[in-house]
Amino acid sequence: MSGWTDIGSLAELEASSRLESDVEGYRVRVARVNGTLYAFEDRCTHDDSPFDDGPIEDSEIVCPRHGARFCLRTGEALTPPAYEPLRIFEARENAGRIEVRV
Ligand code: FES
Repeated sequence: MSGWTDIGSLAELEASSRLESDVEGYRVRVARVNGTLYAFEDRCTHDDSPFDDGPIEDSEIVCPRHGARFCLRTGEALTPPAYEPLRIFEARENAGRIEVRV
């Protein structure tokens, strides 16, 4: 496991509702929902494409293509047609910056 990587400011996250960055070969997305930071690989395990504007509902993201849901706490694939889990990362706020660890 590596150290923490700065991927943007808290202000950017609040303005756009998400941050995205390539970190050590992973396309990482960070979202904050009800005060909780979630960091996950922006790749639906059904077809390996980004989630684009798929909605986040509570602690679950919904893939906009075929509707698979993933738990953003554990990565578990909750509904078909995805069966493989989503890769989850650590995220934290540090002095107004958002950092992830992959
Ligand atoms: S591409 Fe995500 S559910 Fe099919």
